[in-house]
Amino acid sequence: MERRRLVLLLSTVASLQVSNSASSGNIPSRFWCFSEEIALQCGVTEQCKKERPAQKNAAIVNIGLYYESMCGGCQEFFTTQLYPTFQKLSSIMNVTLVPYGNTEETKVGDHWEFDCQHGPDECLGDIIETCTIAIVKTLANYIPFINCVEGSKVTPKEAAEKCAPQFSIPLDQVLNCTTSDYGNQLQHQMAVLTDSLVPQHNYVPWITLNGLHTDDIEEKATTNLLKLVCDTYPGEKPPACNSG
Ligand SMILES: *[C@@H]1O[C@H](CO)[C@@H](O)[C@H](O)[C@H]1NC(C)=O
Ligand SMILES: *[C@@H]1O[C@H](CO)[C@@H](O)[C@H](O)[C@H]1NC(C)=O
Repeated sequence: MERRRLVLLLSTVASLQVSNSASSGNIPSRFWCFSEEIALQCGVTEQCKKERPAQKNAAIVNIGLYYESMCGGCQEFFTTQLYPTFQKLSSIMNVTLVPYGNTEETKVGDHWEFDCQHGPDECLGDIIETCTIAIVKTLANYIPFINCVEGSKVTPKEAAEKCAPQFSIPLDQVLNCTTSDYGNQLQHQMAVLTDSLVPQHNYVPWITLNGLHTDDIEEKATTNLLKLVCDTYPGEKPPACNSG
């Protein structure tokens, strides 16, 4: 009797290993958490997560955005993917904003001059965003403001004037920074970050995932950033990951 049960059990395990499609009825409960696939068949995915916990203290996902303030595709990505995703996934996601894009810089004396794709209004928009990042410091506090600027159909300067009070941004200080040597150096740092991309960017928005850019990452980020961040995060997924 004992021997027959053992044989039966062994054959169950064997068939389980050969075929993943064994139905849950045949699988002894102690194997239910053997793999995610079996857990799914047995309807115990949640319970098994407790036995095989997701990685603790997992590194959060970093999205890098290399853009320029007046590029239509950048504005669209910012307002329809980046900001809505950050609002839902701020616990597992960091964002590095680099407002420079296809700008070119030249050193004149000890000062940098910037030549922006969409002209001086864009240069001012970029440095407003750069100075805001430096002054406000906390992503959760400056990203709503930059989203507001990027979503406004007026020049970035006009948008900043409209958006600053809504998001408690010290606009006087920011505008002061944009004409200072400090602001000029900060904007040069954005050039340095952009120019040190590997591979070099050849369009904007240029998106990186944990520092990496590929056409596939760009495609996934611009179509469903929420899914990309959720799929990349190695830790336990927040509830927002199940909503899309
Ligand atoms: C988030 O990104 C910013 C900008 O790159 C960086 O300074 C900061 O250290 C990052 N924070 C975390 C928690 O990774
Ligand atoms: C603007 O800059 C000037 C000169 O650097 C400084 O004295 C002043 O306090 C600044 N204003 C603000 C609001 O930061």
